[in-house]
Amino acid sequence: MTAELDTIKLADGTKMPTVGLGTYLINTPELMDTSIKAAYEAGYRLFDTAQLYRNEDLLGDTLTKLGIARDQIFITSKVAEISQGYDNAIASIDDSLTRLKTPYLDLVLVHWPVHEHFFETWKALEQLKKDGKVRSIGVANFEMSHLELLKTQAEEMPVVNQVECHPYMSQKSLVQFDKENDIVTQAWSPLGHGAVLDDPMLKKMAAHHNVSVAQLVLRWHTMNGLAVVPKSANPERIKENYQLDFDLTEDEVDMINIMNRNQRTGREPELVYELGKQYKLRKH
Ligand SMILES: NC(=O)c1ccc[n+]([C@@H]2O[C@H](COP(=O)([O-])OP(=O)(O)OC[C@H]3O[C@@H](n4cnc5c(N)ncnc54)[C@H](OP(=O)(O)O)[C@@H]3O)[C@@H](O)[C@H]2O)c1
Repeated sequence: MTAELDTIKLADGTKMPTVGLGTYLINTPELMDTSIKAAYEAGYRLFDTAQLYRNEDLLGDTLTKLGIARDQIFITSKVAEISQGYDNAIASIDDSLTRLKTPYLDLVLVHWPVHEHFFETWKALEQLKKDGKVRSIGVANFEMSHLELLKTQAEEMPVVNQVECHPYMSQKSLVQFDKENDIVTQAWSPLGHGAVLDDPMLKKMAAHHNVSVAQLVLRWHTMNGLAVVPKSANPERIKENYQLDFDLTEDEVDMINIMNRNQRTGREPELVYELGKQYKLRKH
């Protein structure tokens, strides 16, 4: 698979690489250097970070060290809950740009919907796009109801919705809704944070294609029209996850589609929307 061939066109006309490298928990300079180098050499051009991961500066340092031309790569970051609100979101993206050592981001997402700053945060992203600091704007962890609500005031709608998606949480109706609204669904924890890798049925199907379960699952996502950001900090697995030059039959795709158990590895978005943050507020 080559980066040039394998892109998804977003509703704003931008081409986004279908497969990107997730960088959550890649949090030392050494790990960042080896992971990004292995990924770039394997063909990855999209790197997914977030303010919350506290590794934007590490990613910026590594990209600078590797001397990769800025226009050859696609960088995604996300506005953390604590940085939501109009002024805060703008200031936080200025900070992200400094940390990542870049004049612009290819994609910025609202990391989680929170009720308190719901419309103001989005307005900030629309402004950042107008100012040229961000090429495309999107959301993460938005359910249909959040997208419907956003539609009531948005000047432009998100072009990407990055949500938890894997064989045990296939998000069928949300993916369909995104499609109908010209929004690309990008799967986070596309391997279920590792949870699906020991599944006996997936193992059988993978063996049949002479690929790993990770490759099978990533190909299943892309055949369903999703973009993916698998994370690995292991050069061999990073390479493996980008080798997806094989096809599944329609029946095989359907067999994986029906493995859904609505089993999340992360938070329920509606709970985050209500609480205003990912974790329960501690009682003092
Ligand atoms: N928007 C959001 O709210 C949100 C939330 C969570 C995550 N994300 C993004 O999504 C990315 C991926 O999600 P994730 O890290 O939770 O889970 P994931 O990509 O589903 O799974 C990562 C786990 O699988 C292992 N792995 C990867 N490739 C493998 C392979 N070929 N064979 C065997 N094991 C393999 C990794 O270990 P090794 O590193 O040891 O290979 C790691 O333990 C994150 O890094 C982040 O960028 C976004």
